[in-house]
Amino acid sequence: MASDDRDAADDLVVMPSPPAGAGSAAEEFVVPPPASPSPPAEKCEHPAPGVHSANFRFPHDFLWGAATSAQQVEGGITGNDWADWERAGKVPPSGAACDHYHRFREDFDLAASLGHNSHRFSLEWSRIEPEEGKFSSEAIAHYTEVLEALASRGITPVVTLLHYTLPRWLALKGGWESPDIERHYVRYVTRVLDEFSPHVRWWITLNEPVVQLFKGWLLGQWPPGKQDDFKTAFMVIRHMLRCHVRAYHVIHQHRADAMVSVAKHVLAFTPCNPKRFRDRLSVRFREYVFNRLFIDALHKGAIRFPGLFWERLPAGRTLDFIGLNYYTRDFVHNSGFDVPGLVGGSCPLDHHEHIGKRNALGWEVYPEGLAHFLKLFSRYKLPILITENGVPAASDEDRWTFIYMHLWQVARAIDEGVPVAGYLYWSLLDNYEWADGYKARFGLVGVDFANQKRSVRRSAKLLGAVIRRSEL
Ligand code: FCB
Repeated sequence: MASDDRDAADDLVVMPSPPAGAGSAAEEFVVPPPASPSPPAEKCEHPAPGVHSANFRFPHDFLWGAATSAQQVEGGITGNDWADWERAGKVPPSGAACDHYHRFREDFDLAASLGHNSHRFSLEWSRIEPEEGKFSSEAIAHYTEVLEALASRGITPVVTLLHYTLPRWLALKGGWESPDIERHYVRYVTRVLDEFSPHVRWWITLNEPVVQLFKGWLLGQWPPGKQDDFKTAFMVIRHMLRCHVRAYHVIHQHRADAMVSVAKHVLAFTPCNPKRFRDRLSVRFREYVFNRLFIDALHKGAIRFPGLFWERLPAGRTLDFIGLNYYTRDFVHNSGFDVPGLVGGSCPLDHHEHIGKRNALGWEVYPEGLAHFLKLFSRYKLPILITENGVPAASDEDRWTFIYMHLWQVARAIDEGVPVAGYLYWSLLDNYEWADGYKARFGLVGVDFANQKRSVRRSAKLLGAVIRRSEL
């Protein structure tokens, strides 16, 4: 894969981490003392308790780090439905990706040098169970080494059991459409927990189930490539919810103190025309179906489509925290009063040009959405872990601005009492971005795909300085 040098000038070549306090990153934040002493400030009648500095301080046990997924970084994955999708020419090939399967130690050294105390990654089911019911001791040994490598660097793992991809043998049996998926998933999760539960407290059962549903059954862009198949999509969401509930119990049987959630993608929605009732209605519909339904169902133990449908799940309260993936906002226009019409369409990029900054994939940079969702989801009274937030940026300055603006929103939410457990940037490395292939550069660490050379970006060092100071 040819290297993309759009932001090469902004990248810093990998170097051993500087001694504490040294290096340019930390110095960025030094505020010069005032030239003359300022007059004594008038005493505030309502001093905030415990405020010792003008800056915002993050909680001492805050999880700081980055996230990846197997298909996007490991390389050499051949036994899953995505590999078949690549082979069918529907999306670019992932090939060797970041060769992280072999280079994880080097990559974790970089994460540790950047101050990360936490790292989210996914287990590749098709490696662990390449044939139905047959588990690979080699793959289990590999992921054991990955977990040991994290532990020896003082990095807490956050493990995703399923990040979109299904083993081929399972996809051929109908994958998410098969009622048997629950049984297969529970067998896989049980084996994984038998092996890894002593090493892992934080578990993500499913990554972005509703995104997968939209892409796979409504938009036809991802496997199994169905379009507007609302009926099957509804069946799939039931299976996903049930799989989570069953996995939740398996995980807790293995480890009482486990923290279990899904990684829930949330999208801010705005009506295409705020004066148009139909667009506002579509926004409300999408807000519920896309952002809230899944978490609501797991919390309450029932799937609810108000006025349309209600079904009990095997249990409620199967979330120990809420994993949130947040990136951007969509403008929505209604196209009718049946279900597809209510879901509506997302406006094309040239529709709302006045909105300002867009990232390299055309998504709007909309930081205020993050504080909005942190506050919205605080209603569940559970810790919230930001399991993904990041930007594909042609310039690393834009990446740092993005991170800073989003951390600012996190700080505001914490200040207002939202229990935010941590912030995991997407992604540690430039990587394979599904249908967009290698053109999107999300990494704190740049990767030259021609020779697998890593280069730590300045934004990564600036974030590292925030982490070390635990202060913004
Ligand atoms: C999220 C996915 C992740 C990555 C980022 C950019 O929706 O979970 O795999 O592709 O988007």
